[in-house]
Amino acid sequence: MTHPLLFSPYRLRALELKNRVVIGPMGMFAAKDGLASVFHGPHYGQYAIGGAGMVMVEATAVEERGRIGYGDLGLWSDAQIAPLREIADMLRALGSVPAIQLAHSGHKGSTQSPWDGYGPLTEADGRLRGEHPWSCVAPSALAYAPDYPLPTALDRDDIARLLDAWESAALRARKAGFEAIEIHAAHGYLIHEFLSPLTNFRDDDYGGTLVGRMHFALEVAERVRAVWPNELPVFFRASVIDGRTLGWRIEDSVVLAAALRDRGIDLMDCSSGGTAGLDRSEALPREPGFQVFLADRLRREVGMPTMAIGLINSGTQAEAILQAGSADLIGIARGALYDPYWPLHAAQELGVDPGFAQWPPQYGWWLARWAKTVRSQHARHSHP
Ligand SMILES: Cc1cc2nc3c(=O)[nH]c(=O)nc-3n(C[C@H](O)[C@H](O)[C@H](O)COP(=O)(O)O)c2cc1C
Repeated sequence: MTHPLLFSPYRLRALELKNRVVIGPMGMFAAKDGLASVFHGPHYGQYAIGGAGMVMVEATAVEERGRIGYGDLGLWSDAQIAPLREIADMLRALGSVPAIQLAHSGHKGSTQSPWDGYGPLTEADGRLRGEHPWSCVAPSALAYAPDYPLPTALDRDDIARLLDAWESAALRARKAGFEAIEIHAAHGYLIHEFLSPLTNFRDDDYGGTLVGRMHFALEVAERVRAVWPNELPVFFRASVIDGRTLGWRIEDSVVLAAALRDRGIDLMDCSSGGTAGLDRSEALPREPGFQVFLADRLRREVGMPTMAIGLINSGTQAEAILQAGSADLIGIARGALYDPYWPLHAAQELGVDPGFAQWPPQYGWWLARWAKTVRSQHARHSHP
């Protein structure tokens, strides 16, 4: 067998990943005042030890009211740089490219942590945990769901300030030492709310036509690209479709991706859904690799690198996606929560690391000997 693509290096601008596995962004709701906590260090470190080419730090809010919940990371203030710098430095030292996703929750802010209900914050959350509801902003005054507060529609001055916030957060991410940055424009959060006709009812040049609805996303992309070093890549995570039949369509994403590519965005990270008001019947059926066709379509039609993510469960499945030319990078999220060593185990599965050379030497030296012992025990038991 030829060397698997999954474990071949991948280059974007001057950045090289040692393999094609990216640990996808996963909000841990473990920050306080937007600051990375004691949880985040070992949480991210385990993925670097686990062999990922890139580790994407979770959705990090560009302004305080743009958090999903009180536990979100933030980069709206300089004080938030230092704890993230420790994480970026650690990831790099352990052999993974440190990346970070910047985000704004839009009308999906003021939300409880998943284990507290994952619904809108109430005054009871304020009394119990000091987590008071806050007022959100969105392109249009449309609540995310019936119990959520009505957001304020952003005016042009607000939009100008928000663009400044994206730019400042990107500059801080660079100061923290991240080498790739991702703009979160998926899952029904602020940028996606501008894009989708289901959540954007504006009649100015930030709404209406496809061009109008793309305006904010493209401005964010321009502002982030302008301050991000030329030799380092910018990723863009989109919900490539809102739903199976309604709202933002794959054809719209083709137009958007081409416009982003023309503005120097390097890769489309292809997700779906999250839009307000869509019922479950609109969601893609949750089967293995259920979003790969989105990455495939953008890669072929726009000629732009893509990342596929969503129920990619094994090294064999990941390798088949790359071999088919459907994506350039493979995102692993829940699979990595379950098995932080997912990449190292996939390398074993694909037979590219029989001697445990990809493991940290502190582990690999022992495991190579341990594996021999296990194999000889196994041989003795199967041939008594
Ligand atoms: C705990 C958790 C937190 C997540 N947080 C984020 C996030 O911060 N930003 C984002 O774009 N997606 C987020 N996602 C979505 C994942 O990045 C990923 O797209 C999704 O889980 C599908 O991939 P999987 O099947 O490998 O888990 C999160 C998912 C999980 C399970």
